[in-house]
Amino acid sequence: MTETKLTQEAGNGPAPQPLKSYYERHVFFCLNERKEGEACCARYQAQQAFDYCKTQVKAAGLAGPGQVRVNKAGCMDRCAAGPVLVVYPEAVWYTYLDTADIDEIVDSHLKKGQVVERLLVPPTLGR
Ligand code: FES
Repeated sequence: MTETKLTQEAGNGPAPQPLKSYYERHVFFCLNERKEGEACCARYQAQQAFDYCKTQVKAAGLAGPGQVRVNKAGCMDRCAAGPVLVVYPEAVWYTYLDTADIDEIVDSHLKKGQVVERLLVPPTLGR
């Protein structure tokens, strides 16, 4: 098995190029469900929001390599802000209430790279 180089070697050749990400943007939805009444994203229809987001991303022609991938995630330890999703590579954390919020994240951030300020999770809000 050969090793995969993570960066190009420095030398007298051309400047190293950053590795291109397989997806331009990667979205993770917390779908974690807790018993016993503890706060969790599943309680706020996270599964339905995830399904809706995947459908909208695909319908917009944004899904696939070099574009956008929407994935399930477990608890990301930001439950107090739930339901949450995070968009990489920008590491922008959002909360949402309904499909209109998901539409805005898709149309603004995933299509145009513009952060939806009104849906941002406060930076220090954790579990
Ligand atoms: S349950 Fe969703 S971030 Fe913890």
